[in-house]
Amino acid sequence: MGELRRNGMAVAGLAACVFMGAVAYGWPAPARPDAAAGKTVYASNCVACHGEDGAGTPTGQALNAPDLRSDAVQKASDADLKQQVMNGKNNMPPFKDTLKPAEVDDVIAYVRTFAHKK
Ligand code: HEC
Repeated sequence: MGELRRNGMAVAGLAACVFMGAVAYGWPAPARPDAAAGKTVYASNCVACHGEDGAGTPTGQALNAPDLRSDAVQKASDADLKQQVMNGKNNMPPFKDTLKPAEVDDVIAYVRTFAHKK
């Protein structure tokens, strides 16, 4: 009986240590890049041209924005997409002065989620 109780205390103590350690290290922190944060970035910076689902609004289509769900876009590497979002291309404006590099990583992670929606 006493033995069982001591073990129980030890387990509780260990769990508390793990928990405190996790808090000290900032866990649970969102994984980077964070597609959920990217969704917010997308909603304020990209939706006007690319639309909610990446298909492109009439404005975006008039500017020749590609369907972000397409293989042509989804096959490009994260590095290529990042460089295009940072520096812009043709009618796409650059975002390097508006967004932090980490925000661009997040928004690209979000754009990756469009691949499964077509
Ligand atoms: C003013 C309209 C506009 C806005 C705002 C805009 N884009 Fe674009 N986007 C374009 C156009 C136009 C293209 C096609 C560029 C080209 O290849 O000629 C494009 C292309 C792209 C591509 C395709 C890249 C490739 O290599 O195929 C991605 C990815 C992309 N945009 C992501 C974004 C993201 C993320 C944002 C928000 C941070 C954004 N765009 C905001 C107009 C826009």
